[in-house]
Amino acid sequence: MKIDEIQTAFYPSREITDPEFFVGRQDEIRKGILALQEEGSFIAIHGLRGVGKSSIAQQIRLIATGSTILPKMLKLNRFLPSKPFDFIVIYISADQYVRDTSDLIKRFLFGDNNNASLFSYTKTGDRKIEQIKEVFNAGGAARLMGFGIEASGSEEISYSTHLSDDLVQQFKTILGIVKKDNQSKSGILLLVDEFDVIKDKTGFSSLVKTCSDDIVKFGICGIANSITELIVNHTSIGRQLHSIEVEKMPKEELLGIIKRAEHHISNSIVFTSGAKEVISNQAEGFPYFIHLLGKQALLDAFEEGKKEIDGASIDKLNKQICDGRLNTIYEDIYHQAVKSSPQRELLLKLFAEEDADEIFTESVYKSAKDLEVSNPSQLMKELTQPQGELTLAVLVKVREQYYRFTDPVFKVYTRIRNWKYR
Ligand SMILES: Nc1ncnc2c1ncn2[C@@H]1O[C@H](COP(=O)(O)OP(=O)(O)OP(=O)(O)O)[C@@H](O)[C@H]1O
Ligand SMILES: [Mg+2]
Repeated sequence: MKIDEIQTAFYPSREITDPEFFVGRQDEIRKGILALQEEGSFIAIHGLRGVGKSSIAQQIRLIATGSTILPKMLKLNRFLPSKPFDFIVIYISADQYVRDTSDLIKRFLFGDNNNASLFSYTKTGDRKIEQIKEVFNAGGAARLMGFGIEASGSEEISYSTHLSDDLVQQFKTILGIVKKDNQSKSGILLLVDEFDVIKDKTGFSSLVKTCSDDIVKFGICGIANSITELIVNHTSIGRQLHSIEVEKMPKEELLGIIKRAEHHISNSIVFTSGAKEVISNQAEGFPYFIHLLGKQALLDAFEEGKKEIDGASIDKLNKQICDGRLNTIYEDIYHQAVKSSPQRELLLKLFAEEDADEIFTESVYKSAKDLEVSNPSQLMKELTQPQGELTLAVLVKVREQYYRFTDPVFKVYTRIRNWKYR
């Protein structure tokens, strides 16, 4: 057996792009396939952090370009249209540079490291980009395209809002050219992942409304409990909205991920049913844990020349997590949140022990006080504000006296991990 196979059996650090490794989610994929067939539809994939949204979005992207591997695997081929899908798909992942709808349009037009620009789908191709940039510059639309100028004062903001209709029209025109130059294609799908990080989403709904038609459709993917949380004004999108809510992963599917990995390495190393049971219970519905534990267990077995991973191997692995010896970003987050305060660690652990998603602070504070933390609220700053290199705080306030873990996977991690200070 080769190390390469071991290394590629699990994917703890990224979404699933290869359909052969995608497990379950039949309902979500069926909804996606149906949405692709509907005129002017708008796809919104949402759910908790880390449940597998991007993986679903990636599969929808692939299916839209004509791949039938996953629909066949999930026995969904009867939902595919008789004329195969052949979409142009632009898939962008919002980051800190995409601050608002204008930035988003710019990304669609000019592409990024992972994406061709929309212009590359026109007959004149990439060569035309420079020319069009010039036109934008000359026409003053450059400020909207985010070249250089930041809107700061209120006057500028209203100016840019006023002009943005113009930008939307320009964008629509370019989409029209792409359409005309690609008449054999079944559509144009514009997908935005990490949609939740875009600070100012003003104008997005109206962009979708203005530009969607028989050929063009939009899709978004992001962290949100509900569709309202993800996109304001979504009601204006109305009946075109296809909401795909991604729940935590059911246990059979978590087990399926392990089976898929075993298959990938031709069962040269297998997990006993006891080991599978422990891992899948511990994951609490988050596929990430399956990938994390599974990969480490395989590497350990490979190193020791073992053919079987049993309960004892998993116990050993758990001990590594407990001691913070497994190399994950969650370990760093844990240290940066706790810092050097045993009392803060206690408070963090208490929050993690609460089952509710939205956690009532008073009851946590009370338990903390019972355990002789004199002033728990004073320890909250480090938990509710980004620390060190972290860009996210560990806890976020949802309403008066209620907090939620920004990353539910970290909540599970905190529960599993041993005390640093006790
Ligand atoms: N259907 C699936 N089959 C196998 N593994 C999956 C599946 N969905 C997700 N995973 C795994 O779970 C982890 C999280 O997946 P993904 O990145 O898609 O989640 P997400 O909801 O987009 O996360 P975030 O909220 O951080 O953007 C990754 O390790 C990924 O490989
Ligand atoms: Mg994601």
